[in-house]
Amino acid sequence: MAPMTDSFVVSNIGEDRNPYAAYAEARARAPVALTTHFGAPVIAAYAFDEAEHILRDGKTFSAKINGKLNRPLLGKTILEMDGRNHFVHRKLIGHAFRPTVAATWEDKLIRPLAHALVDGFAPRGKAELVREFAWELPVRVFAEIIGVPSVDYAKWQGWAVALEQAAHEWDRALQAAQEAHDYFQPVIEERRANPGDDLISSLATAEIDGVRLDDDLIHGFLRLLVPAGAGTTYRLIGSMLYALLTNPEVLDAVRADRSLIPGCVEETLRWEAPVQFAMRNATTDADVAGVPVQTKEVLVMALGSANRDESRYEDPNQFDIKRHGPPHLSFGDGAHRCLGEHLARVEGHAALDVLLDRLEDLKLEPGDADPHIIGFAFRSPTALPVTFKAT
Ligand code: HEM
Repeated sequence: MAPMTDSFVVSNIGEDRNPYAAYAEARARAPVALTTHFGAPVIAAYAFDEAEHILRDGKTFSAKINGKLNRPLLGKTILEMDGRNHFVHRKLIGHAFRPTVAATWEDKLIRPLAHALVDGFAPRGKAELVREFAWELPVRVFAEIIGVPSVDYAKWQGWAVALEQAAHEWDRALQAAQEAHDYFQPVIEERRANPGDDLISSLATAEIDGVRLDDDLIHGFLRLLVPAGAGTTYRLIGSMLYALLTNPEVLDAVRADRSLIPGCVEETLRWEAPVQFAMRNATTDADVAGVPVQTKEVLVMALGSANRDESRYEDPNQFDIKRHGPPHLSFGDGAHRCLGEHLARVEGHAALDVLLDRLEDLKLEPGDADPHIIGFAFRSPTALPVTFKAT
């Protein structure tokens, strides 16, 4: 097979424009129900409290199920680990993703990269912000963080897409996993011999309780980060831009008062969870909201549904950046809560701030593009053709 170099066909798996009406009906029937997910029987948690409860109870609900699909592609990753094993490995990796570290990346890394992307399209007075900005920024940020800045971004983006779409195109995903392995192997060896100030060096040399990450685990982690770093934040930035461009009065308010940006990022995460599901399996017989769960049964947390639970959020379908409401579940919860959440927030914040600084009179271009958010497993807008005056 030819190596993968491009693909801007980022499928969100499913063509649903608005899955939320069906989720509201499901929640009205029961917070938790037996259903099928991609053809397999599962117990789905649609309501916030139950989804949160399952994610937080790592003893009754194991993350092993995450290894079922991922293992042949990524190798073993922390996503599938439980208990102490997970704790130790997460600690080895986690220090690189602390909020203070993510904050230092904002000025020295994310803003300059965002400006460079805007430089590329600003003279035209028009752009397609999903393709030319939201899709391009996170992969560049991630490459800098792991310490291989001058890579072929299109190749990485191709891997990210292929790994995300594994359930649909298995051979392509296997090929992407192999290419990523072959790419990272010499980098890992080089960093172990000559460690620098980057993520691969810290993975190659870190040690906790006498445990070091072997090459397989480092590969697993890096291959997990390719889609986690490139795909998810792209969706957050895209959906936030969609929400603002289709609510121009909110866009004007944020432009005038940048202290509204953090609320805007947080509300986007609640309103359109980029990753719609998390999965667990029961370690023992249990009961969730009156639904009996048997050992090994698979549970699916519908994060997008939980985030629109009317018992928790007033007028949940409304995009309201001043909500200051209770936290959402878009980064999961419990022991496996997203390690990249601080980075994702900082990236969303800096991306919007730079666009507002550089692009005045920013609006959707009239025409037939019909921008809309789409997807079942993931959610993000199709395309955002815009016009602006560059400053
Ligand atoms: C808006 C952006 C993001 C969203 C919505 C998101 C979502 C999630 C969710 C829902 C989980 C929990 C999965 C589970 O419980 O089974 C998770 C875990 C994880 N995320 Fe993210 N993520 C985002 C960005 C990132 C970034 C930028 C990185 C790293 C560069 C990252 C790295 C990880 C890792 C390593 C885990 C596994 C943590 C563990 O198992 O302990 N994520 N993410």
